Amino acid sequence: MSRLHGILALSLVVGASACKPKEGGTPETAPPADAITEIKLGVVGSLTGSNATFGNSTKNGVDLAVKQKNAGAGVLGKKVKAIHLDDQGRPEEAKTATQRLITQDKVHAIIGEVASSNSLAMAPVAQRARVPMITPSSTNPAVTEIGDFIFRMCFIDPFQGYVMAKFTRDNLKLDKVAILRDVRNDYSVGLANVFAEEFKKMGGTIVADESYAQGDTDYKATLTKIRGANPQAIYVPGYYTEVGQIARQARELQIEAPLLGGDGWDSDKLFEGGGKAIENSYFSNHYHVDDPSPSIKAFVEQYRAEYNETPDAIAALAYEAAMVTLAAFETAGGVDGTKVRDVLAATKDFPGVTGKITLNAKRDAVKPAVVIQIRDGKRMFVAQIAPEGGVAPAKTATAAQ
Ligand code: PHE
Repeated sequence: MSRLHGILALSLVVGASACKPKEGGTPETAPPADAITEIKLGVVGSLTGSNATFGNSTKNGVDLAVKQKNAGAGVLGKKVKAIHLDDQGRPEEAKTATQRLITQDKVHAIIGEVASSNSLAMAPVAQRARVPMITPSSTNPAVTEIGDFIFRMCFIDPFQGYVMAKFTRDNLKLDKVAILRDVRNDYSVGLANVFAEEFKKMGGTIVADESYAQGDTDYKATLTKIRGANPQAIYVPGYYTEVGQIARQARELQIEAPLLGGDGWDSDKLFEGGGKAIENSYFSNHYHVDDPSPSIKAFVEQYRAEYNETPDAIAALAYEAAMVTLAAFETAGGVDGTKVRDVLAATKDFPGVTGKITLNAKRDAVKPAVVIQIRDGKRMFVAQIAPEGGVAPAKTATAAQ
């Protein structure tokens, strides 16, 4: 999916198998800005494996930001170099990659990961070494709770779970929902819990709460149990590969209820994997590409020109994460981890793609969420929900590609 570009000369892709595990990481004593030759951003992502679109979209988003900066004045008058490591979607590899970026490549900040379980494995390493780590898209609250060097550029799951519960009650007007959660995925478990709690608070009933484990391929026994509970919808807060298979097997079992999900569905591969079976299902997400806002329009155009693809939410968040981080080096006047941390923590009204980015006291961005419906293999925008609550249905449902 990612084409080779000139920029790749600057962004080394190294398989995680090449990583030598190193424990710990000594506190960085950063050299003054004029003593360094380049600004180094380490990026950890799943470039291969069943979540590969997560890593590749992140890489594309970061590389676009780096390319634009380097085409201008650079950062602190230096070129920026992105060093991408593949963790194959595995927490242990993500941790090893983080150690390597800090101890060997001596990066000045780390962007990653997408999957919360991987970010949770990385964050203690970055925190101990006092290297700022910025996750563009991990939504589990525990990620930034690990320490004051850990930042997040998106909303968190207590909000995302509330959004889908509210949409299901107020817009879809459903009473009985089943849950199917991935027990090997911190994101999935956390989101399932929030959804259940919020949906019940709103007067709904959870008629079944079942589980699977990432990598499973046969969901028929579990789906048969769910069918017996006769739900009006099934909430499946997992990642796209499994969700596509679950959708197909549900339809084979004559389950007609729509599936509901979260941002983990956001991959074009979901439409290939789920085909017709995923039609008319709904998921919460960070943005939709047909949003008329000028910043989204500009980003989508630039991204398409670069990669000949439409950016998913992960790509947009990764681009924002890189832009916020690079701006923090400028404001800090150098690469000292503690100074950069202080600047990042004070991020307020940064002009991002999806709107103005402000971090709260927990180093999490506060942003609205959108609800997307899948129609004709496309993402259709149906509602936007602000953090203060209140569902604003789209005036006209528009294709979001
Ligand atoms: N929010 C998901 C997690 O924390 C990751 C994700 C973000 C997946 C955006 C797709 C789109 O695990």
